Amino acid sequence: MFVNLIFLLLVIGLAGLFGWLCYRAIRGRKLWVKIVGGLVAGLLTLLCVVVAVMGARGLGAIYLPGAAPAPNLKVAVTPQQVARGEYLVGLSCVGCHGAVGADGNPTEQPPLTGGWNIAAAEGFGFMGAMITENLTPGGKLAGYSDGELFRVMRYSISKEGHKLGFMDFLPYKELSDEDTEALIAYLRSLPPAKSAAATRGSFNFIGAVLMGSGMFPPSAPGAASVKAPPKGITAEYGKYVATFGECRGCHGPNLTGVEASALGPAVPNPRPTVSTWTQAQFIQTMRTGVRPSGAPFTERMPWKSAAKMTDDDLAALYAYLKAPVQ
Ligand code: HEC
Ligand code: HEC
Repeated sequence: MFVNLIFLLLVIGLAGLFGWLCYRAIRGRKLWVKIVGGLVAGLLTLLCVVVAVMGARGLGAIYLPGAAPAPNLKVAVTPQQVARGEYLVGLSCVGCHGAVGADGNPTEQPPLTGGWNIAAAEGFGFMGAMITENLTPGGKLAGYSDGELFRVMRYSISKEGHKLGFMDFLPYKELSDEDTEALIAYLRSLPPAKSAAATRGSFNFIGAVLMGSGMFPPSAPGAASVKAPPKGITAEYGKYVATFGECRGCHGPNLTGVEASALGPAVPNPRPTVSTWTQAQFIQTMRTGVRPSGAPFTERMPWKSAAKMTDDDLAALYAYLKAPVQ
């Protein structure tokens, strides 16, 4: 935070310096000094002013996000909640927050000690460090109240009240209150474990400038209270399964695919293909990673997580993929 503020002050200082040089050049006696000096210093002033404004906006969005206070919450930690939390974590969180191997890559296996720098791995390390946190009571979360942990999941706000960079792009703010509490119950029940690598999420000044420029706008905050649709093999519940099952994070909010962008290559719309499959074929495909045509999924499609879903959840997903887009 302090380093980022120093960068901001530096850019403001440079803007002042170039502004002064521009003024001096324009008042110079020689015509060429007026034109060349004034133009160069003027453009540099403008550049610094733009960077300073975007940086200040970005830093404001990160450090002063206007966060709601953490709810006053005490999770009961019943065996049912812990089991539900374990199911949810096994489908999604473990893929990023699992232990890292000696090479720094995620093993996607417990313990949930994290340490994977996604920003560096995905080629946006120039924006800062986005390293998955240790989710066991052996890490930072031991110092979080249940309400503060709830606020992380619902509003992407850390204990200190700062906006999280990466978690904000994930769809967990749409998890029901009940499921969010189940996650907390499960994380609290884990044996404490230490991380092998540093864990932290922090934007640097370039990240702040890009955020302030509107290239990476923070996502809308979650609702104060969220209820899941009634459990069943329905398109409505299937959409909820696609939320906690991570599908929407990659295939787009309505599972209609995502075009290639600075954040990654294109992800296909699975609906046309899935609509030619039977429910049994869909479940078989998600469990084995091989389509009915015999074509296997590539590494980019994390079917091994989906394979851990119950039959009913996969059937609901199928109903959602076959239904009109919603
Ligand atoms: C796609 C990767 C990814 C997935 C999946 C993921 N996280 Fe995270 N998580 C991150 C990263 C990266 C950070 C580091 C902070 C940041 O940049 O958001 C983080 C940070 C956190 C933090 C620490 C927040 C803080 O205050 O510092 C918590 C708690 C957390 N995640 C919980 C979860 C839970 C629970 C799940 C599953 C429901 C989950 N995450 C799934 C990438 C992920
Ligand atoms: C990490 C990103 C990611 C997540 C999460 C993800 N997918 Fe995919 N999926 C892909 C990519 C990339 C492809 C295309 C590459 C391939 O075919 O292996 C794909 C392919 C597919 C296909 C095949 C489409 C076709 O036309 O053959 C289906 C079906 C599918 N995904 C369904 C799902 C479902 C259901 C979920 C949630 C349980 C899910 N995906 C989660 C990235 C993802």
